[in-house]
Amino acid sequence: MRPHPPSASGLPHRSAPSTDALPDLSHGATVDAPLPDGLMLRTATPADIIDAARLLGDRGEPSDAGDLELIVGTEGCEGVAVVLQGDRVVSTLTLLDEVVHVDGVPVPTGQVDLVATDRDFEGRGLVRALMDWAHGRSRDTGHLLQVMVGIPYFYRQFGYEYAIPMPPWRPLVAVPPTSDGVVVRPAVLEDIPVLQALQEQAQASADVRMGHRPRCWRWLIERGGPTLWVAEDDGAVVGMSRTEGDAVGELAAPADEVLLALVAHAAEHADEKIAVQQRTGVGSALESFLGAPTEQPDWYYARVPDMASLLGHLAPALQARLRAAGLGDREHEVLLSSWRSHIRFTIGPSGFRVLGQGGAEQAPISKGGSGVPPDALASLVLGPYGAAGLEERLPDCLLGQQRDLMTALFPPRTADLHTFYLPD
Ligand SMILES: CC(C)(COP(=O)(O)OP(=O)(O)OC[C@H]1O[C@@H](n2cnc3c(N)ncnc32)[C@H](O)[C@@H]1OP(=O)(O)O)[C@@H](O)C(=O)NCCC(=O)NCCS
Repeated sequence: MRPHPPSASGLPHRSAPSTDALPDLSHGATVDAPLPDGLMLRTATPADIIDAARLLGDRGEPSDAGDLELIVGTEGCEGVAVVLQGDRVVSTLTLLDEVVHVDGVPVPTGQVDLVATDRDFEGRGLVRALMDWAHGRSRDTGHLLQVMVGIPYFYRQFGYEYAIPMPPWRPLVAVPPTSDGVVVRPAVLEDIPVLQALQEQAQASADVRMGHRPRCWRWLIERGGPTLWVAEDDGAVVGMSRTEGDAVGELAAPADEVLLALVAHAAEHADEKIAVQQRTGVGSALESFLGAPTEQPDWYYARVPDMASLLGHLAPALQARLRAAGLGDREHEVLLSSWRSHIRFTIGPSGFRVLGQGGAEQAPISKGGSGVPPDALASLVLGPYGAAGLEERLPDCLLGQQRDLMTALFPPRTADLHTFYLPD
């Protein structure tokens, strides 16, 4: 989702229900769950989708309505939750199923998108309740991570942190040359395997990567617009790009002249000056055609619901990092406190094993451990600073005597993520 500006309905908000009054929705409410004021939260049924789409179109972009219908058309309604007043949908969100690769290890991940509340129902905790539902469903689906794009600050309230920087957007200041023989055309469904291959190649150097799943490629092509473009040379697809309004992203082509032709084509067909997403690897070919970034880059939100489960899943990556640091030949005991809870584990040639976990641990340093605040755990695993960089930036990130071990386990990570909406 594009990070829409926060809404200002101007309508008086009723007082929010206390959280105590809400039922526990974190176990995936597939049946009706009553909320205060006679409202009901549940998984959407086909009959709810038209109304949920109307709400999304009203509160977000008009195209959001069609996007929900497209997603439900292939996924069904199970990932969509609604809050109803009678038959009327007054709040909704959708949970998408994704995979984030961390150092090559696939991590099942959820992504919340298409979030909106009716103006008359804002500020009553409906999205808070829906996020509980989404996180319950995400956990039951086996997700070990959640990532998303969203409006500023809002999702921090539900356990998300700004963990992964997005590539900067740079204005096109001169139109690059087109290349003889390279033809740019809208992508069609038959192109999906080669689109996927081009993106896998483009993302290969990123430590943390999330590509479009096959059905997402389908949605993006069927969405109309068109928004996905391929470059053909002598009948073979040799590059791709994605456009939304004045934004050109997801550029992927092994040959520089093809990248330039894709950007030239976008500039030729845009109503206004275009901005190009400078993902790793495309900067040098385009450098002389791009101006300085005009805005501070945005960040993806990420949430780690259970650190022990995520680290256990990432054991092969952690072992490889230890080996790369010359520490891979023996078992290491680690105490990691997030201050309000902690885990103690071993990692080494025999894998990852939890020795214990529990509540607040206020003195990890004196026990030979490290302290990392709960809202920096996703950054620790996925972010560009690594453990050492977080310690420099955060007064409550303290690595203690385990510094070398933590630095080896959690080095800075580069990232390249693709989401349903091009975050512009
Ligand atoms: C943003 C939006 C989804 C919030 O929905 P909502 O049902 O009013 O949200 P909730 O009442 O569940 O809010 C949860 C908490 O966030 C606070 N909050 C509400 N809107 C907020 C905002 N825009 N920014 C920050 N905090 C906000 C609430 O006060 C509440 O705090 P509390 O639990 O401490 O009382 C809704 O205003 C909306 O549909 N806006 C237009 C579309 C949009 O921006 N969608 C999100 C795209 S990512």
